[in-house]
Amino acid sequence: MNSCSHPAPLTDRFGRVHTDLRVSLTDRCNLRCAYCMPAEGLDWLPRPELLTDDEVVRLVRVAVERLGITAVRLTGGEPLLRRGLPGLVARLHALEPAPELSLTTNGVGLERSAAALREAGLDRVNVSLDTLRPERFAEITRRDRLADVLAGLRAARAAGLAPVKVNAVPVHGVNDDEIADLAAFGAEHGYVVRFIESMPLDAQGAWDRDRMVTAEEILHRLGERFDLVPADRRDNAPAEEWRIAGTDAVVGVIASVTRPFCGGCDRVRLTADGQLRTCLFATEESDLRALLRGGADDAALEAAWRSAIGGKGPGHAIGGPDFRRPERPMSAIGG
Ligand code: 5AD
Ligand code: SF4
Repeated sequence: MNSCSHPAPLTDRFGRVHTDLRVSLTDRCNLRCAYCMPAEGLDWLPRPELLTDDEVVRLVRVAVERLGITAVRLTGGEPLLRRGLPGLVARLHALEPAPELSLTTNGVGLERSAAALREAGLDRVNVSLDTLRPERFAEITRRDRLADVLAGLRAARAAGLAPVKVNAVPVHGVNDDEIADLAAFGAEHGYVVRFIESMPLDAQGAWDRDRMVTAEEILHRLGERFDLVPADRRDNAPAEEWRIAGTDAVVGVIASVTRPFCGGCDRVRLTADGQLRTCLFATEESDLRALLRGGADDAALEAAWRSAIGGKGPGHAIGGPDFRRPERPMSAIGG
């Protein structure tokens, strides 16, 4: 296989071409969202198991040079907890061809880092925010940090990270009464708010379908306050998007459970400890770290990567009889 700027696409046996790589930089987090992890946190990965910056850059270089990856999203846990993140972003930005770079963060540390990240070459951010009420934020995340997140959002916009997206996970009896308020907040400040159906990926195994707010219900709640016009969208984008009539504001719904978008999946994931996952719900991983540390050359890494994609399944079946939760929780996979 060559390493020119037009590598063979990373195609699976269903014909899906993979261009989007999610890289988790840590499994740690400074929040404890109840739908994600227990109050006491988790057994974090020991540091020697984490990929170093050099190892992350190496794998992403192979992905962009040899596998046709064009977009890289940095996730966690909370990726801003990774020391020296702007330096890592700059190194990824310097790869050729340069990937589009985005970050999924809880926003807590963003006020401090947004300008440096933009400067380093980060293109855009997604910030998780489930409520606009300080007490409720403290209940959901078990930390009193709403003001930091709001400041982080403002800093991201001021730094020119665009678009700034907000991810909200509505849960019945927790924040389902704030769906329209969150959309209005996004419209007022120029953030694209996307509502995500909650998935059975929490560490505690406490997910309950009845507490999940479905896309249908989200749209119903939005429709009570706004006129929604379908917006143009990218084919493979998981979010279905609408414009609020009479405004430029866009809202989205990610119906991972009730309207799975596996048929158009273009993603592949790398965990903070160097395991390649072909799906959030995959039950198998490929150990790229062992290859890296065993001295594999780029061609061997490429081959392992292609072989893993060759084994990618058609999709998840949350709620179906054969559904098995992955062994890792979402915070250790990367969103
Ligand atoms: N289901 C749906 N979304 C989740 N997130 C975290 N855990 C879950 C879950 N179980 C969201 C976070 C973040 C994004 C990466 O995924 O709120 O915005
Ligand atoms: Fe942290 Fe994100 Fe999990 Fe909340 S959802 S605890 S912000 S990793």
